Amino acid sequence: MKVRVDPELCVGHGRCYILAPEVYGEDERGHCTVLQPQVTADLEKKARLGAGNCPEHAIKLEDD
Ligand code: F3S
Repeated sequence: MKVRVDPELCVGHGRCYILAPEVYGEDERGHCTVLQPQVTADLEKKARLGAGNCPEHAIKLEDD
């Protein structure tokens, strides 16, 4: 699964990297950075958890 964040939509709520720090990190402004742009199967649940909890729907997931 591919993971990316839309920097135009992310405003730094931080839920993604709090809930799934294996997949998401934060930059110096508290905005999301994707640590695992191509997540392995064992991390797909965490990737979805982070994406599903972003109030701005800034995280896009794409199945392989
Ligand atoms: Fe940004 Fe949403 Fe995470 S606004 S910091 S992608 S919870």
